[in-house]
Amino acid sequence: MRSSAAFIAALAQVVSVLGQAIPAPAADGRYTISAPGIKAQFIPYGASLTNLFVKDKNGKDIDVVLGYDDAAYYPIDPGHPVYNSIPGRYANRIGKAQYKLDNKTYITQDNDGGNTLHSGTNNWSFRFWNVTALSADSITFSIIDASNSSLGLFGRVESSVTYSVTNSTWNIKITAISPEQRTPVLLTQHTYFNLDAYKNPATPLVWDHTLYLPYSKRYLEADQGALPTGKILTAQPGSINDFASKAGVPFGHAKNEPAFKGNCGADGVCEGYNGYWLIDDAPKDAVVLTLASPFSGVKADLRTDQPGIVLYSCSWMDGSAPIKSTQGLNSTQKVVKSSCVAIEAQDYPDGINKPEWNRTEAQILGPGETYNWQSSWTFSLL
Ligand SMILES: *[C@@H]1O[C@H](CO)[C@@H](O)[C@H](O)[C@H]1NC(C)=O
Ligand SMILES: *[C@@H]1O[C@H](CO)[C@@H](O)[C@H](O)[C@H]1NC(C)=O
Ligand SMILES: *[C@@H]1O[C@H](CO)[C@@H](O)[C@H](O)[C@H]1NC(C)=O
Ligand SMILES: *[C@@H]1O[C@H](CO)[C@@H](O)[C@H](O)[C@H]1NC(C)=O
Ligand SMILES: *[C@@H]1O[C@H](CO)[C@@H](O)[C@H](O)[C@H]1NC(C)=O
Ligand SMILES: *[C@@H]1O[C@H](CO)[C@@H](O)[C@H](O)[C@H]1NC(C)=O
Ligand SMILES: *[C@@H]1O[C@H](CO)[C@@H](O)[C@H](O)[C@H]1NC(C)=O
Repeated sequence: MRSSAAFIAALAQVVSVLGQAIPAPAADGRYTISAPGIKAQFIPYGASLTNLFVKDKNGKDIDVVLGYDDAAYYPIDPGHPVYNSIPGRYANRIGKAQYKLDNKTYITQDNDGGNTLHSGTNNWSFRFWNVTALSADSITFSIIDASNSSLGLFGRVESSVTYSVTNSTWNIKITAISPEQRTPVLLTQHTYFNLDAYKNPATPLVWDHTLYLPYSKRYLEADQGALPTGKILTAQPGSINDFASKAGVPFGHAKNEPAFKGNCGADGVCEGYNGYWLIDDAPKDAVVLTLASPFSGVKADLRTDQPGIVLYSCSWMDGSAPIKSTQGLNSTQKVVKSSCVAIEAQDYPDGINKPEWNRTEAQILGPGETYNWQSSWTFSLL
């Protein structure tokens, strides 16, 4: 295990390579930015958010995202749940570990039961990004992704993510270029929330949170390996995958239905949600998702320029990971199954292999083009 001191020394080296006046992170390995009502902390590994403090209904600052206290643990964590980092260059799955581009078939790495997940084993969430700009309320991380450094993804891609905070809002902006050749690019911020910061004595689970996706009646059918089949389904009001018909409905509204266990596949083992909801006809800058918790009173509103959202309700969390010292009621608590939700605004998963969705060209980046991705989370009280 690397010591924290060695880890921070390595970070300082990364920063100094740039030859710019970017200060080293604090002794705990983190960079902190803040604005009224919000404080966010980051590490270069995966360009990850480690802590996000917002006000609860008692006026206390609570840390509403998952992560670890020890910044040095992220790179060695065998579980690696992609905690609030940027997976890339093609997030989520590439079906059958291959894609066709300009009449040529490319083979990608099979690291997820026959499919490619998050581009394979050299994915962006496993790399130390460079800090390329920093101020009191904003930080930019950058990455240069060499051709074929993730198997079968060719051409150099350069990307940056800028995180900033303003008045209880966390803003995220990602850009990328691919100057050498056309290549699949699909990015997201893979943010895990528990809006109670694990402090609800009644339950650590997120099923009492409420979830509303007003423009998302439609979702993608997926197979047992969470790979979209190509079919687009419409959720009937009140049905298990319906979060569109009514505001303020508990996230776990269907948790007692027999189909809930297995609703996200794995032959009945994946409980709850691990799928993609389309955003249809949302006005510009509309709130497309509201997650809230009656216990803490925290309400989180998502705005995004992306055409849909991945929801994953942490079915694979096995209770081995600790919570942070900023969270919970005591230090014995663990990240148990269904105690968090990952919310990832992004383009349609495996869209490069699904021409019927008309997303293929939008997911290919080539010379002369710039990829842009933008989202924000605004926090307030219920
Ligand atoms: C791909 O093949 C089709 C059919 O042979 C052809 O019309 C098209 O021009 C090819 N596209 C490219 C980019 O080579
Ligand atoms: C991402 O890359 C790391 C490092 O190569 C690897 O250990 C990990 O399994 C990869 N993640 C996935 C989901 O393949
Ligand atoms: C960080 O910057 C250095 C110097 O420009 C470069 O060699 C390195 O590849 C960059 N790291 C990443 C992850 O892009
Ligand atoms: C891509 O990388 C793999 C190793 O990961 C290598 O076997 C293969 O030859 C590379 N392909 C090209 C065209 O460079
Ligand atoms: C900050 O946000 C709150 C709640 O959305 C709003 O009432 C207030 O006017 C905002 N203040 C500024 C300075 O934007
Ligand atoms: C810690 O908190 C959990 C969750 O409320 C509780 O189940 C457990 O009994 C507590 N343990 C101690 C030692 O207080
Ligand atoms: C794709 O485009 C075709 C032709 O315009 C259209 O019929 C079809 O509905 C579109 N598919 C989706 C998923 O939007």
